[in-house]
Amino acid sequence: MEQSVKSRILFVDDEERVLNGLRRTLRGKIPLWEMEFAIGGPEALNILKQREFDVIVSDMRMPDMSGLELFQIIQEKYPQMIRIILSGHSDQEYLLRSTASTHQFLSKPCEIEVLDSAITRSTKLKRLLRNPQLVRSATQLKSIPSLPTVYREIQQALQKETVSLNEIGGIVEKDPGMSTKILQLVNSSFFGIAKHVSSPAQAVSLLGIEITRSLVLSLHLFDQIRGGSALPGLINQIWNHSTTVAKMAKKIARQLNFDPYDIDYAFMAGLLHDIGQAIFATEAPRVYMDLVDRTRQEDQYLWKLEAETFRTTHAEIGAYLMGLWGLKDTIIEAIAFHHAPSASGQTTRTALCALYIADVLDAELEPEQMIGRPTQFDMEYLARLGLEKQIDAIRKNILSR
Ligand SMILES: [Fe+2]
Ligand SMILES: [Fe+2]
Repeated sequence: MEQSVKSRILFVDDEERVLNGLRRTLRGKIPLWEMEFAIGGPEALNILKQREFDVIVSDMRMPDMSGLELFQIIQEKYPQMIRIILSGHSDQEYLLRSTASTHQFLSKPCEIEVLDSAITRSTKLKRLLRNPQLVRSATQLKSIPSLPTVYREIQQALQKETVSLNEIGGIVEKDPGMSTKILQLVNSSFFGIAKHVSSPAQAVSLLGIEITRSLVLSLHLFDQIRGGSALPGLINQIWNHSTTVAKMAKKIARQLNFDPYDIDYAFMAGLLHDIGQAIFATEAPRVYMDLVDRTRQEDQYLWKLEAETFRTTHAEIGAYLMGLWGLKDTIIEAIAFHHAPSASGQTTRTALCALYIADVLDAELEPEQMIGRPTQFDMEYLARLGLEKQIDAIRKNILSR
């Protein structure tokens, strides 16, 4: 039986006044959260020496040690902690969203409801990914695909204060196989770019860093999985579905006025959302093929049969791997809950809702491509996000591709 344990949250700010304010406004969370408050980074690190926390929420601008410096230390010493930064909206800081040491970025001043929901979501996700059965299944995978070197190098480059598109292009160029694949995709009708793109640097400047990074990751993963799989046809089918959903999710995110980062996250979540299916198909091809057949015979959801057979689903396995590789929480969350968005507890529009709508719409548009019973719209979830009346407009916009 799962015991309900309180989540432990550490708040850090250089101003006593701010901490007192948080203490007051968050009093209602005491039954659920064990909270501690630290004045500045050094004190936070001292507290962390004594006990463990699930989540740390820190101010960005602090005199002794910036929030980012603090998070870099924490990432190294306590990698399992969820790191949320509160920051003002200057461009420089905006860029920090793409650094690996921060899981979530909230802009200041931050409404208490937004902070509450960010922390609640993080702890839910953490609990889900800590599910012992899931960890057991994931660690028993014979062939956990590896993170591509190019991806890791881009990550490292992004840690630097300034990085140029050229530099990122240069990193991609070092891997000829990857360069070829990216150029093929960019020059195909997939992105609808009219001019011919001849170098990775040019591709990066057209696509942006986030999209390039997600292509590097997903092309590599799918290639690696396809290479080791007895079912390359099925893997191709999953890849085709994933690229379509990625494109749709991006279009939806744009239509819903997401900020540029979240538009890219929606795309990336789309590319990777069903990677768990590809992993099952490679790990246990015969069992998985039977399961795919059964979804047809029994008109059953794929994830339901997966849960019965493997005690975990492709959504969870995918999210788990993305978590291991340090992808953004928004992406992990989108993947984890793409068949049951209500369970995320999410009340705002992020990559999850764009991915979810795209996945359902693709099933409507290409039913023959689908594995298992198609997911239907969860109107309660859409209503919570104020989207129930917008679905028709979104569908129309997608059809106009
Ligand atoms: Fe799925
Ligand atoms: Fe899907």
